[in-house]
Amino acid sequence: EKGGFDHFMLKEIYEQPRSVKDCMRGRIYPEKGKVQLGGIKEFAEKLKNIDRIIIVACGTSWHAGLVGEYLIEEYARIPVEVEYASEFRYRNPIITEKDVVIAISQSGETADTMAAIEMAKERGATIFGICNVAGASIPRLTHAGVYTHAGPEIGVASTKAFTAQVTVLTLMAFYMAQQKGTITTSKLIELLTELDNIPEKIQVALESNDLIKEVAAKIKDSTNCLFLGRGSGFPVALEGALKLKEISYIHAEGYPAAEMKHGPIALIDEEMPVVFIATQNSSYEKVISNIQEVKARKGKVIAIVTEGDTEVKKMADYCIEIPDANEAFLPLLATIPLQLLSYHIAVMRGCNVDQPRNLAKSVTVE
Ligand code: M6R
Repeated sequence: EKGGFDHFMLKEIYEQPRSVKDCMRGRIYPEKGKVQLGGIKEFAEKLKNIDRIIIVACGTSWHAGLVGEYLIEEYARIPVEVEYASEFRYRNPIITEKDVVIAISQSGETADTMAAIEMAKERGATIFGICNVAGASIPRLTHAGVYTHAGPEIGVASTKAFTAQVTVLTLMAFYMAQQKGTITTSKLIELLTELDNIPEKIQVALESNDLIKEVAAKIKDSTNCLFLGRGSGFPVALEGALKLKEISYIHAEGYPAAEMKHGPIALIDEEMPVVFIATQNSSYEKVISNIQEVKARKGKVIAIVTEGDTEVKKMADYCIEIPDANEAFLPLLATIPLQLLSYHIAVMRGCNVDQPRNLAKSVTVE
């Protein structure tokens, strides 16, 4: 049942080239520059005139929501707010019939996310779901939705469901941009052609597994770990930190790299591993200065870099390469080595990777 892998989590990490491909199947037409999302088709007209999108989710799904915020704002130019479902439901949020709420949930059974949907629905919002489990409670509560089609996820730590959620959000951002006319067909042809190739690039990213295992062995006894990134690398950092803490029980925090100087920098010494998302995109130079700040304080730097990078290699203690890609697709690739890093650290620490203590696969209580 684990398909020759030691744990479900590892099997699910390795399934990602296929799960991301399945998620895009029948939805993208690169040569025409067209995205088709049957699940939300009946709202195509409404999407042309919405003022705002609110994304509600918990845990890893909330991180996917943050990636969605970057993509939707960048391409569809619609303002997005990302909310923890548990906080949103207990505020008195301002929601109108003009709002679209996107609820993201792997299981489709998360109590807080369900309650947030019910409240937004009562106030007249249109609710879209992004869910992995067909026929679960959330897809039944929403007005429309897009399934992630990642297949069953058994490991409590979400891996392939996260990348599938990010894939759906990428498709939604492009779909909304297409509806609103904020993107040209030629740009869509270019982006979709590249997106179509992302599964192969995920496969390449997985090939760093042996190196990642070596890095894991070097930092497995740490008691703390920081994950830093900028732009859409920030939610990737948050997700890297959550994965590490939930399965290895190492205290980890994700931060926007520039926020380091407002507090976390005080933590840095030779005992502190700092994982940077340092790929070559618009924030590359800025991330390099953040790496220098950590090195100046003798922190141990592990950097996720673009294939062929030479700059970061001069500074970092360990570099893990991922294939080059448009910034829009960075989260889909940079997440992969972080999943493997957490996995190997947890195994080396003798942790129960698939069933971490105190956690359940679906959190059906508030
Ligand atoms: O099923 P959901 O996506 O609604 O679950 C939300 C969180 O409970 C979930 O993502 C949790 O944070 C995972 N264990 C993270 O790996």
